[in-house]
Amino acid sequence: MDEKPPDICTAYLAPDGFLPELVQELGCGVHTLGRLALCPGPPRPVAWAQNVWLNPRCIPFSSISEAVRLLKALGPRWTLYDEHLKRRGRARLIQERVPGPALKPLVFGAPPPNAALGSWTLLDETTLLASPACSSPFAHGRPVFSEDKTGPPNRAYLKLWELFTVLQARPGPGQVCLDLGASPGGWTWVLARLGARVISVDKAPLAPGVARLPGVEQRLGSAFGLRPGEAGPVDWLFCDVICYPERLLALARRWLDAGAAANMVCTVKFQGRTDLEIVRAFQAIAGSRLLHLHHNKHELTWFWSASP
Ligand SMILES: C[S@@+](CC[C@H](N)C(=O)[O-])C[C@H]1O[C@@H](n2cnc3c(N)ncnc32)[C@H](O)[C@@H]1O
Repeated sequence: MDEKPPDICTAYLAPDGFLPELVQELGCGVHTLGRLALCPGPPRPVAWAQNVWLNPRCIPFSSISEAVRLLKALGPRWTLYDEHLKRRGRARLIQERVPGPALKPLVFGAPPPNAALGSWTLLDETTLLASPACSSPFAHGRPVFSEDKTGPPNRAYLKLWELFTVLQARPGPGQVCLDLGASPGGWTWVLARLGARVISVDKAPLAPGVARLPGVEQRLGSAFGLRPGEAGPVDWLFCDVICYPERLLALARRWLDAGAAANMVCTVKFQGRTDLEIVRAFQAIAGSRLLHLHHNKHELTWFWSASP
């Protein structure tokens, strides 16, 4: 890692615990401030970033009120990243005096906030690093949902809520969804509640309350035994099976080659070392995106769509 921050850069915020993955993905020339990685050059589509500061700039200031004035002139709302600061008092005094992010939890289905949210930090006591534009509309790329504590059988539903909110796309009523590795049924629960027809495949059963939802058909068996197209063409293929990433890549390619799904969402789960080659292989699939959702653990979400 370099000693000094690069002059012109993009800043990438790693998900908690995944800075090594982000640094590996970015390659050389990275300077880190906590889990914020500063890099020369324009923004790149990296997977292991929770939020990307698209146009950060270094701005000298001499007083707290001047810093507040400079931030307000640069953008309407700001969020402070201060995890790396040894003394946070000065930064927090500045943040208290600028408009911050929306604090109300998001109700699933509502669009993400559309007012720009900038991110900033202190490089030292008299220098701001501030980016008025960021890739995520949420503070530090972390959407906070108004959760459902009674309906779904686990918290996996939050991954789909987050993905559909970020993409602003989701299965519509009557669309056919194949949910591979569906048990106990958090994803099936989300899809059924959207009015989709869900074929849920797993070796283990769905939670009874999910299996009974209208539109849900449960099939006990292996996700890998099902040939693409066997269940008819599907609008959305979901796969959350715990398996080696290579096996998942082969499954995704089989479905792509067969043209049997219009959209695909797969969780790429890593065990031990994160394999950058597999990350690159998923990223190289045309029309797809690989991202780390806030609700992902040591895994990435791959999304592909036949429509541009
Ligand atoms: C992380 S859990 C899925 C959670 C689910 N998406 C939800 O929202 O509740 C992974 C699932 O993959 C299933 N699984 C593992 N190997 C499988 C296989 N070969 N075929 C089908 N399901 C499999 C497991 O039984 C387990 O239920």
